[in-house]
Amino acid sequence: MNVKPDFSKGHNHAETAPAFLSVWNMESYYGESYIVQNITFNVHEGEILALLGRNGAGKTTTLRSIARMDSPQVTKGEIWLDHQPLHTMSSHQAASVGIGLVPEDRCIIPGLTVEENLQLAQIAPPVGWSLERLYDLFPRLAERRKQEGVTLSGGEQQMLAVARALARDLKVLLLDEPYEGLAPVIVDEIEKTLRIIKEQGITTVIVEQNAVRALELADRAVILDTGSIVFDGTAAEVLENEELRSEYLAI
Ligand SMILES: Nc1ncnc2c1ncn2[C@@H]1O[C@H](COP(=O)(O)OP(=O)(O)O)[C@@H](O)[C@H]1O
Ligand SMILES: [Mg+2]
Repeated sequence: MNVKPDFSKGHNHAETAPAFLSVWNMESYYGESYIVQNITFNVHEGEILALLGRNGAGKTTTLRSIARMDSPQVTKGEIWLDHQPLHTMSSHQAASVGIGLVPEDRCIIPGLTVEENLQLAQIAPPVGWSLERLYDLFPRLAERRKQEGVTLSGGEQQMLAVARALARDLKVLLLDEPYEGLAPVIVDEIEKTLRIIKEQGITTVIVEQNAVRALELADRAVILDTGSIVFDGTAAEVLENEELRSEYLAI
């Protein structure tokens, strides 16, 4: 059964808090073929959700759909952030109400310094964290503020991409494979930062091939397989369930 909750009021079941980000019955297409279907899940405010699944399962498609990117095309369903209908918005509007997508390739702007990359994010209101607050969280970026962003190491570029999302008035951070290609000690550093960001009340959805690392960080997990959700539960449940791990995550 898939009864549509009243998202405009925040759907409030007796035993659960109202969801902050709700994806309901979403279907997304690239061209002619649908890539994800029947996608329904909730994320509570301040929670970290790991969105997992094998290569090609539809994780990036799901994140891009939530961020309202031009492609894929969302043809069905609803997406709500804090009682606001994201499914009616452009990517710019979604960003202005607090959705921040950090794509897999990080998209640092060439020709601009670290600081200019951050300042550019602060041009459009509503502005989020100040440079001072960002440099406090990312001392490595403070040291390299005058360096061209694209010349940073992979880990530093990931930090810059996250900092740039915070420079907008961020409510939900959508991370697409943030640990990809990074040494374990750098992953440790980024993970520590993500925990601090959580303490500041920001909600995070993390997509990661490194499922164990993501599950150690996350409160809850959703697993996708060939475009549909096959599991929705706590991160601990996934870590304890060998069958689930080997069937869908190959860990
Ligand atoms: N731009 C695109 N055009 C057509 N098909 C795409 C496009 N991007 C992804 N796909 C297809 O959609 C499916 C899901 O891809 P994706 O969401 O990138 O998976 P994941 O991030 O889980 O690895 C794959 O079969 C992929 O080939
Ligand atoms: Mg992907």
